[in-house]
Amino acid sequence: MAVSTIEWADGRIRMIDQTLLPNEFKHIYCDDLPSTWEAIKSLRVRGAPAIGIAGALGAVLGIWNSTAESYKAFATELKSATDYLATSRPTAVNLFWALDRITETAEANSQLPIPALKKVLLAEALEIINEDKAMCRAIGQHGMALLNENDTILTHCNAGGLATSDYGTALAVMFSAHEAGKQIQVYADETRPLLQGARLTTWELMQAGIDVTLICDNMAAQVMKEGKIQCVIVGADRIAANGDTANKIGTYNVAILAEAHGIPFYVAAPTSTLDFALETGDQIPIEQRAAEEVTEGFGKLTAPDGVKVYSPAFDVTPAAFVTAIITEKGVARAPYTESLQAMRDACDT
Ligand code: MRU
Repeated sequence: MAVSTIEWADGRIRMIDQTLLPNEFKHIYCDDLPSTWEAIKSLRVRGAPAIGIAGALGAVLGIWNSTAESYKAFATELKSATDYLATSRPTAVNLFWALDRITETAEANSQLPIPALKKVLLAEALEIINEDKAMCRAIGQHGMALLNENDTILTHCNAGGLATSDYGTALAVMFSAHEAGKQIQVYADETRPLLQGARLTTWELMQAGIDVTLICDNMAAQVMKEGKIQCVIVGADRIAANGDTANKIGTYNVAILAEAHGIPFYVAAPTSTLDFALETGDQIPIEQRAAEEVTEGFGKLTAPDGVKVYSPAFDVTPAAFVTAIITEKGVARAPYTESLQAMRDACDT
């Protein structure tokens, strides 16, 4: 995209308010911790890598006006900022990964005068953005090799430029293929209840000039049965050491449908989405969202007032359903415990 999803702008965070898309394209500014927390919680900024970036910039915002005179006092302020931001959304591990990175950078530079330390933390947050941009491009390059001329891809939710610093993960594969001159088409699941597929994915793909068709979530099986889909590509919020993958609610349904129809199911995500602390996906915390997002998501009541609602925001697709995981380091295949570990080792070298 020509414009940044989220960036640092003179002591404030500037981001596209994604809740308004596609009707309105508007930037908002967060100049304190509560507004940053609210922007993450209410999905003004969303998508695992973008949430991580918001966390890193938010942590910087939390100490930017600090008047602490000792590292100890400064570290206490930083911890209260990161602890607070960590309560915004639980599933995307990129948030915790980015907050840890800022904390570790502070610890490694604790000898610096506080004004210099603040600048080092900002530089680290900006470095996370730069790395994210590079990771997205690399994912695109690795992933496009999996696509054939004239393939039609099904995707769920939005794993595009809006969900990252720019270019995306799952959509990066499509952008790269399109830019390389491959003919591809995309079916985008609407993605109930917050319609990230309908509102954001179709918007991004149409802007890029990629042939996209919108379907309701419950149409995916029929579309596959009609032979219209050659592969599924989705993003991820957290991938356990064994390859179990948390992504937007409904992804698991799509994975089962792909398996039933013999269609490859690919996950595209940066290595910052891998969580080696969790052996399996059973340990991934699943965010629960408010009932109103289901009953009156876009201003109109579509269920009886007061009806009981259950609304997990993510599900976990077992690794057995995942054909391959595309990261910036390459394409991992089962057994994931080994292939993902090899990617992690590649990051350390
Ligand atoms: O609730 P959201 O909109 O933040 O959920 C986003 C997703 O599930 C994405 O697929 C995932 O974060 C990958 S984004 C590159």
